[in-house]
Amino acid sequence: ETKPRLPIIWEHYQECTCCSESFIRSDHPMVADIILDNVSLDYTETLMAASGHQAEAAKHDTMKKYHGEYILCVEGSVPIGANGVYCTIAGKTALEHLKEAAEGAKAIIAWGSCATNGCVQGANPNPTGATPINKIIKNKPIIQMPGCPPIGEAMAALIVHYVTFERLPELDRIGRPKAFYGKRVHDTCYRRPYFDAGLFAESFDDVNAKEGYCLYKLGCKGPSTYNACASMKWNNGTSFPIESGHGCIGCSEENFWDNGPFYKR
Ligand code: SF4
Ligand code: SF4
Ligand code: F3S
Repeated sequence: ETKPRLPIIWEHYQECTCCSESFIRSDHPMVADIILDNVSLDYTETLMAASGHQAEAAKHDTMKKYHGEYILCVEGSVPIGANGVYCTIAGKTALEHLKEAAEGAKAIIAWGSCATNGCVQGANPNPTGATPINKIIKNKPIIQMPGCPPIGEAMAALIVHYVTFERLPELDRIGRPKAFYGKRVHDTCYRRPYFDAGLFAESFDDVNAKEGYCLYKLGCKGPSTYNACASMKWNNGTSFPIESGHGCIGCSEENFWDNGPFYKR
């Protein structure tokens, strides 16, 4: 209660906004509590009341007043093709916005697969030159939160951790918080006993798929995907893709679009 609220600038570039959608659905911690009590979300195109010049002014005020203190959150990749014209906001390219906002940031959080690895717009042949944040900004700590989108509770917990301890959480060798990306989906999957027993569903309408047989033969990428979906689950702990009957498509791994979430006949 005695601490000033942590200033946050949340940029949106080439993205679908579902990372924000995921974030606002976190219920432990509750996002409303974070936004009202712990942080000052000074700029975000989706959640702020201001728009146009007022919104830009709020962002620039924060960049000036809290230079070196604010956290920059980035949702989306940066198109660097054709001088960045594929994503412009307030008359400037995403590349210009990123460099400007990163300059005074204490740390950067790259939300989702767009910001961490380029996601679908970075898939072959990547027509806009979609580029992840850590390929552009080299002089700031960058926390990588891949996933399409990341789990809302993981996003909220990351912010609360920073506010509480005033330091970054423990990260792995590619910048992901170990607490959420330290294990493979396969390691905590409830279908794992079937995998170990060699019991696999052979098709999506296989009666054994409903019984809980392993989905590996149907393309599940859980064995090579680092994320907390099987333990934290989605929608306030309700379920996750594998529990809904579909294998993991590896949405938190680099180049997952090129590596095959689609079906080929
Ligand atoms: Fe949307 Fe996925 Fe990009 Fe998040 S990572 S903005 S969910 S496309
Ligand atoms: Fe592993 Fe996927 Fe089988 Fe689960 S369904 S045990 S993650 S291969
Ligand atoms: Fe994505 Fe696989 Fe989790 S598809 S949501 S990492 S189960």
